[in-house]
Amino acid sequence: MINAGIAGIGASVPDRVLTNHDLEKMVETSDEWIQSRTGIRERRVASGDEATSDLALRAAREAMAEAGIEGSDIDLIIVATVTPDHLFPSTACILQRELGAVKAAAFDIEAACSGFIYALSVGSQFIETGTYETVLVVGAETLSKITDFTDRTTCILFGDGAGAAVLKPVGEGEGILATHLGADGTGGDLLIQPAGGSRIPATLKSVEERQHFTRMNGREVFKFAVRIMEEAALAVLDQADLSKEDVDFFVPHQANLRILEAAAKRIDLQDGQYIVNLDRYGNMSSASVPVALYEAVRGGQIQSGDTVLLVAFGGGLTWASSVLRWK
Ligand code: ACO
Repeated sequence: MINAGIAGIGASVPDRVLTNHDLEKMVETSDEWIQSRTGIRERRVASGDEATSDLALRAAREAMAEAGIEGSDIDLIIVATVTPDHLFPSTACILQRELGAVKAAAFDIEAACSGFIYALSVGSQFIETGTYETVLVVGAETLSKITDFTDRTTCILFGDGAGAAVLKPVGEGEGILATHLGADGTGGDLLIQPAGGSRIPATLKSVEERQHFTRMNGREVFKFAVRIMEEAALAVLDQADLSKEDVDFFVPHQANLRILEAAAKRIDLQDGQYIVNLDRYGNMSSASVPVALYEAVRGGQIQSGDTVLLVAFGGGLTWASSVLRWK
């Protein structure tokens, strides 16, 4: 049995920092409220002419350099995003063009914050079946472009960024040991960008009604998140024939420190075993998990041989988890 493993990893965030104190000048909120309710101190925001593919490209090039591959080596590119450059062509096709990935197939996946793990799962299966040798998976977002900066209940949460991984075949017992995906469309209205698709195409009215921005029922998403993170973690560990005690590091979706700590507690993990970077980046949707993984690897926390548990939840509703043996 061939497994897929991460041969290279990369990340990129915009230069511009938006702090809680900056937000205090934009909406009625406070640094104290935001930090105590979410754990977020600041986030990165793309400039006007910076699109999702710009961040994705930088992350992809770094991952490719580490893996020692050229664009022409890539068989498949999957980009997970809810903020593509355009509704079409896909952001994956933009990457395909810019990377000179002449033989690669390319498509986007939309599973909100669970997107990167969805992409990892789909991409790894092309390797496990022997169909492809080199797959580039990316989670990239410019959420600031669909954030209503007059709505204090959402604008404090989100940030922009991208993370990428190059998948290659590895030996048995290494790399991606299992993935678990789930969805519950009955909760779709809890987290939604109402307009811009075929249900509510863009009109003057849809813009005036601010329907092109993210809307969220925070309390309901919070309850769902705590429950589903534990369930998704246990499901994927079970699938890999592992138990909670086998986990060295937990890389959760970075939505809210309270959600993350509650999930870690339910999985019996100690401080230091779970990776937190939301204080600096906020919730970057599909980019949160790969950027957190990237920082933990580059920072030397996650080392060769470690068992790493990735878990995310997001709009859809969706959830996804994966367990990896890092190499
Ligand atoms: N500053 C000050 N006060 C605020 C702010 C703010 N930024 N936002 C809300 N409040 C007020 C509310 O109006 C409310 O006031 P009221 O009691 O007078 O009505 C009070 O604070 C409490 O509001 P709650 O919504 O109950 O606050 P809560 O503790 O639930 O925190 C939060 C809100 C941070 C949004 C939380 O619910 C949360 O993190 N939910 C999950 C969000 C999430 O994970 N989203 C995932 C998105 S993933 C994706 O797919 C993009």
